[in-house]
Amino acid sequence: MDNFTELIKKRRSMRKFTEQTLSQEEVVEIMKAALMSPSSKRSNCWQFIVVDDKDKLEKLSLCKENGSSFVKDAPMAVVVLGDPLLSDVWIEDTSIASIMIQLQAEDLGLGSCWVQVRERYLANGTPSGDYVRNVLDIPLQLQVLSIIAIGHKGMERKSFNEDNLLWEKVHINNFGEK
Ligand SMILES: Cc1cc2nc3c(=O)[nH]c(=O)nc-3n(C[C@H](O)[C@H](O)[C@H](O)COP(=O)(O)O)c2cc1C
Repeated sequence: MDNFTELIKKRRSMRKFTEQTLSQEEVVEIMKAALMSPSSKRSNCWQFIVVDDKDKLEKLSLCKENGSSFVKDAPMAVVVLGDPLLSDVWIEDTSIASIMIQLQAEDLGLGSCWVQVRERYLANGTPSGDYVRNVLDIPLQLQVLSIIAIGHKGMERKSFNEDNLLWEKVHINNFGEK
């Protein structure tokens, strides 16, 4: 990828992947980016589980009613966990790590999609985080923030069109006119 400006224009959520697996180098680059994420007071309150086991990916794809089924067809997913006892802003820290993973994946020419786990539920009311905890033996003190599905892109997606940006969301010196 030439530069950051191009990268952020090109990154779109990818929910369709080819069957090609990721190389070890690609996985290492992605996890290096996760581990270099900024965190409040450098608490490093995150933990990551790299999942490439087909059976586990399939189980993770059932972690909520909607918006997670494509995980079963991804060659890999990173489950992002945070420790609320280590940081009162674990949600921010783990969210930043999640997007760092996505941007590094894009830089490698890979596609990715964030699957929200925190505050999501199965149809029977079970919290998605409890379901994921059970699948991956996650200790009780850790919370599940997201699952980032990653793989080689299985379809084309349009880059952002700069002409359509929501500039009305940007305010200067004051919210609205004074
Ligand atoms: C906090 C957050 C949670 C998301 N959760 C899901 C999800 O559970 N399933 C999904 O398919 N996409 C999820 N997404 C991806 C968004 O749907 C996507 O970013 C949005 O539609 C904009 O599309 P784009 O990423 O292609 O620009 C999530 C994104 C964010 C930032």
